[in-house]
Amino acid sequence: MHIAVITIFPEIFKAYLNESIMKKALNKEIVKIDIHNLRDFTSDKHKTVDDYPYGGGPGMVMKPEPLSNAIRHIKSDGIDTLTIMLTPQGRLFTQKVAEELSAEKRRLLLICGRYEGIDERIRETLVDDEISIGDYVLTGGELPALVIIDAVVRLLPGAVGDENSLREESFSWGILDYPHYTRPPEWQGLKVPEVLLSGNHKQIALWRRKEALKRTLKRRPDLIEKARLSEEDYKLISEIKEENDGFHKRN
Ligand code: ADE
Repeated sequence: MHIAVITIFPEIFKAYLNESIMKKALNKEIVKIDIHNLRDFTSDKHKTVDDYPYGGGPGMVMKPEPLSNAIRHIKSDGIDTLTIMLTPQGRLFTQKVAEELSAEKRRLLLICGRYEGIDERIRETLVDDEISIGDYVLTGGELPALVIIDAVVRLLPGAVGDENSLREESFSWGILDYPHYTRPPEWQGLKVPEVLLSGNHKQIALWRRKEALKRTLKRRPDLIEKARLSEEDYKLISEIKEENDGFHKRN
């Protein structure tokens, strides 16, 4: 996969991409990431990338010229490119969008906005997609771009050591993860659930599935409606609901 980024803070990317799984994926050439400094595409002495908004109001707007120069320069190599702008006005980034982008054959070009946003004419003419990582406002698109890079790259074949850990990931079904335990079997009087020590893989898988559903019902019931659930899952959900009813009747 090939990713390009336009930012005024290239160092932010270098720091994060130089660690852990991202670093390994880059070294193994599973992904290639080019970071472009927007200031390199300005033509004035002060390398100005922003200006006052027409119509007044607070904040600054990113000028069209440097952005258009940068985008055109990157695209001048003729590689098919999907240009994505990071903005709170975009469509919401979810695991499904991460999967969609990880399967993308085109190069991803991520544009990190700063200030109040970019000149609307750039969005209209040069941007294919707009993505938000959540309903809150950050100071710029750099963290959102890194969030997207991280979520997308770890889905690429060979990026994460154990492929099974991706396949088994509950979020790939759209529900929350089950509880995890490691040694010792008893810590400060708290025991690891018996079933996990049993060696019975079928029972373990069933227990995990039920715990994941239990958590999702309790913490994020909204996810249950959209989740990819099996017949067995619905049975487990009925069991959980019956157990809860029993609990409420008893107490
Ligand atoms: N830029 C500022 N806030 C953002 C958000 N929540 N998502 C994407 N880009 C942003």
